[in-house]
Amino acid sequence: MNPQAAQLNDTIRDGNPHVYEMLSDLGRAIYFPKLGILSQSAEAKAKAGKYNATIGTALEGGKAMHLGVIQDTLSAYDPKDLYDYAPASGKPELREAWKKKMVADNPSMEGKSFSHPIVTNALTHGLSIVADLFAGPGDAVIIPDKNWENYELTFGIRRGADMMEYPLYNADNRFNAEGLKEAILAAKPSGKAIVVLNFPNNPTGYTPGAEEGRTIVEAVKAGAEAGINVVVVTDDAYFGLFFEDSLHESIFGQLCGLHPRILPIKIDGATKEEYVWGFRVGFITYGSDNRDVLAALEQKTMGIIRATISSGPHPSQTFVLHALKAPGFEEQRKQKFEVMKGRANRVKEVLDCGKYAEEWDYYPFNSGYFMCLKLKKVSAEPLRQLLLEKYGIGTIALGDTDLRVAFSCIEESGISELFDLIHQAALELEAAN
Ligand SMILES: Cc1ncc(COP(=O)(O)O)c(C=O)c1O
Repeated sequence: MNPQAAQLNDTIRDGNPHVYEMLSDLGRAIYFPKLGILSQSAEAKAKAGKYNATIGTALEGGKAMHLGVIQDTLSAYDPKDLYDYAPASGKPELREAWKKKMVADNPSMEGKSFSHPIVTNALTHGLSIVADLFAGPGDAVIIPDKNWENYELTFGIRRGADMMEYPLYNADNRFNAEGLKEAILAAKPSGKAIVVLNFPNNPTGYTPGAEEGRTIVEAVKAGAEAGINVVVVTDDAYFGLFFEDSLHESIFGQLCGLHPRILPIKIDGATKEEYVWGFRVGFITYGSDNRDVLAALEQKTMGIIRATISSGPHPSQTFVLHALKAPGFEEQRKQKFEVMKGRANRVKEVLDCGKYAEEWDYYPFNSGYFMCLKLKKVSAEPLRQLLLEKYGIGTIALGDTDLRVAFSCIEESGISELFDLIHQAALELEAAN
């Protein structure tokens, strides 16, 4: 074991032995080189006033060397905010600005102890860091049966963890906290569970209400009280797009400081919230009452980043920081929220008109980008193919009965026609069967 990794492990073990137990083999072995190129270079940046010959970038006239053909289209930005490497943990001003926004958006985080957000190459990367640090063969990763397919690749295929599903909805069509609790308690023999909570949910567009939120927190706590170490990841990809009377905050805030055997990890980012899918800017934030544990987890996270992508792209961090600080940010965000909410409301209005009831139900939704139909008479995949080939309509088939519709991509004026055509195709398929 590298001595620096051993020291981080000692710090974590001293601060909270349960968090140490949660770490995967890779999580225990990883560290961010204290005396490596990046730290020496950072030291030189502060002190080498004459010649700084530390890092593999290039300077000209005291500025980052660059090509005119690139800078000409980006002239609003200073070369230092585009071309230099961003630190492995991300641009400090961006981390600060995101933390401020996170607390403003999630008042339940106020007064809780959590790390600074560390910048990731968007949310998938954040999830993959969690998988690297905490998941390994035999570990249970608990997700609802309606989930984002990439969890399987990130935790199951890549890290060899066991994916355990529970039904997302209960018999009352509410969040199935009882199912979640049972799945966590079933991990008792191994003493460890990784729970991924994703609200607004992909693919259904569901976010629980406040009372359901309380039962989720209780379910996690029951696991911890039964002696299970629970890593709880809140995948807040679609955060903020809450159109109805659901929770309007991440559950992360409620989980912070709840129990020493619970490690809350918040995965969020600009991707969907700020409509910058290709920028690849996300964040990972840890909750712990112990500042030393937080600092050590940050070092281990930076170690994984250094070992995989070295550092995230600087230009997009600059663009997002610029947006967060811009005077029009909140107003523009609100405008787009209203557009998305208008689409969600229109979808409900169209679906509730009664004429589709023979062909499908829909899963409860109140947030996010998506909704999901539950087909009654035809299978999802042939319907998807017919829609695509004959009607030029793209949807996503999930399992036998579910068809995901990203209403985020459909203007309000087209929503009625879209569902009419899906209906027509379903009838056609049924007649042909
Ligand atoms: C639930 C969920 N989490 C995470 C992501 C990944 O986001 P990113 O593009 O920032 O990696 C997605 C993207 O579709 C998603 O639906």
